[in-house]
Amino acid sequence: MDRVYIFDTTLRDGEQSPGASMNVEEKLRVAQALERLGVDVIEAGFPISSPGDFESVKLIADKVRGLSVAGLARASFGDIDRAWEALKGGAAPRIHTFLATSPIHMKHKLRKTPDEVLEQAVEAVKHAVKYTSNVEFSAEDAGRSEMDFLCRVIEAVIDAGAKTVNIPDTVGYAIPSQFGESIAEIFRRVPNIHKAIISVHCHNDLGLATSNSIAAVQAGARQVECTINGIGERAGNTSLEEIVMAFRVRQNLLEVNTNIKSEFLYPTSRLVSNITGLPVQPNKAIVGANAFAHEAGIHQDGVLKEKSTYEIMTPESVGIATNDLVLGKHSGRHAFVERVKKLGYEITSEQVDVAFQAFKELADKKKTIYDEDIEAIVAERTLRLPDRFRLVYLNVTSGTVTVPTATVQMEIDGVVRQEAEFGDGPVDAAFSVIKKLTGKNPRLESFNINSITGGTDAQAEVSVRIEEGGVMSNGQASDTDIVVASAKAFVRALNKLEHRKKKTFAGYV
Ligand code: KIV
Ligand code: ZN
Repeated sequence: MDRVYIFDTTLRDGEQSPGASMNVEEKLRVAQALERLGVDVIEAGFPISSPGDFESVKLIADKVRGLSVAGLARASFGDIDRAWEALKGGAAPRIHTFLATSPIHMKHKLRKTPDEVLEQAVEAVKHAVKYTSNVEFSAEDAGRSEMDFLCRVIEAVIDAGAKTVNIPDTVGYAIPSQFGESIAEIFRRVPNIHKAIISVHCHNDLGLATSNSIAAVQAGARQVECTINGIGERAGNTSLEEIVMAFRVRQNLLEVNTNIKSEFLYPTSRLVSNITGLPVQPNKAIVGANAFAHEAGIHQDGVLKEKSTYEIMTPESVGIATNDLVLGKHSGRHAFVERVKKLGYEITSEQVDVAFQAFKELADKKKTIYDEDIEAIVAERTLRLPDRFRLVYLNVTSGTVTVPTATVQMEIDGVVRQEAEFGDGPVDAAFSVIKKLTGKNPRLESFNINSITGGTDAQAEVSVRIEEGGVMSNGQASDTDIVVASAKAFVRALNKLEHRKKKTFAGYV
C-alpha cells in the first residue's frame, strides 16, 4: 500500500475564501487540530503578505512540531527570505515557492518569456535550498500550461533541489481523465522525476477538485493539497475529508493510504466552520448535516435492517457520534470532560471551567443537551478569543403591537458603553445599536440561521456575512435565543473585519 501525503492549506488557500480570515490564535487552534488529525504538512500562511501572516506562520512553526510547517513564497529572493525567517524555528520547515508556467499567466501577469520564467524558477529553488532541503516548487496554472514547457520546468527545478513538485490546477479547469493523463505524461517524460514527490493542488471551479486529485494519485502523484471543508479561493480546493475517505473507502481500487485519523474529521470540520464563520452546506459529502441522514422510506427500512444497504462508511468512522442524547442537567464535570474529549477537542482545565459553567447554564434552559450543543459551547466559550468588540448585554422587545427595540451594552477597546435603537424587527434593532456603538456601517451580505439540533428549545446557529470597502467578513455564533445568536455573530464578523483590514493584501495575486 502506497502512502499519500496530505498537505493541508486551510490556513493559506482556505483563508483566501471571502470573509474567512482568522487571527493568529485561531490559526494556531486550527493548526493543532490538523496535527491531531494526522496531516503531514500544514501550509500556515504566506509570510511576506502581511505582518499577521508572518506572525502566524512563525507561531505555528514554533509550536506545532509533530509535522512539517510550510510557508508560501513567490519565486523571489525577498519572499523566500521572509518565509524562512518565519519558518526557521520549526521542526521540519518547508519553503513552498511558486511561479506561473501557463502562456496566459506568463504573457499577461508576469510579462516574461518562458525562458525567463524557467530561469527565475530555478534561481528561486536554488536560493530556497540554501536554507533547507525541504523545498516545494509549484508551477502555478500548470493545468493550462504547455506540456513541453511544464516538463522542462519540472526537470530543472528538481535538478535545482526541489524535493516536492506541485502541479496545481489553479483555475479548476481540468477534467479527471485528462488531468490524470497529464500526470502520467509528466512521469513518462521527466527523466529525474523519481527524485521528487509529485503533488497536486486542485481548485473546484467545475466541482471536480476531488475527482481530479484522485485521478492524479492513480497516475502516480503522492501528495494531495487540500483544505478542511474544501474552503479556498473562489469555489475552493480539494476537500480533505472527501479525498481521505475516498482513499479509505475505495482502498481496494486505489491502493493508497494516508496517515489521517478519520475519527477527527468531523470535529475538525466543525472547528474550521466555527472559526472561519463559513457554514458547511447540509449536503456536503462526509461532514454535512445530511451526509448520513436517510429520508426515503425504502432507505430507512434498508438501513434499519442492515446499515450497509445505504451506507458506504459509518458516521462513527468520520467522528460523528450517533448517540445523540449525551448529557443533561445532572451530569457532572467528569462526564462533560469525557464527552468533550470524545468529540475530539483538547481544552485546558481553565477552558473546561468556562465551558462547564456554560454547559450548566444551557442545561438550565434546555432539557436535553446534544453533542452539537457541546460543540457549540466549546467553540463559543473556548475557541473564540478576546477581540476589539465584545457584546456584554442585549435586551430586545418585539411583538405584534410594539416597535422592535434593542438595548445593547458593549465593551469596545476595553470601555463599556450602552445604547438603544428601533428597527423593523428585533435583529434589525440589535444590529442598528451595534452599528451605532461601534461606529461601523457594513453592508449585510447574507444572514443564515440554522437550528443546531431538533426541538423548540434548540440552539440557533447564525452565520452572517458583511462587507465594507470591498473587504468581506463572516461571523458565526450560537445561542438558544436567536436574537442573541444573531448579535453575537454580527459582532464576531465586525471583529474579523477589523482583523482582515490589517492585512496588507489578501491572497497571493
Ligand atoms: O492555486 C494555486 O496555484 C496555488 C499555488 C500557490 C499553489 O494556490
Ligand atoms: Zn490554490
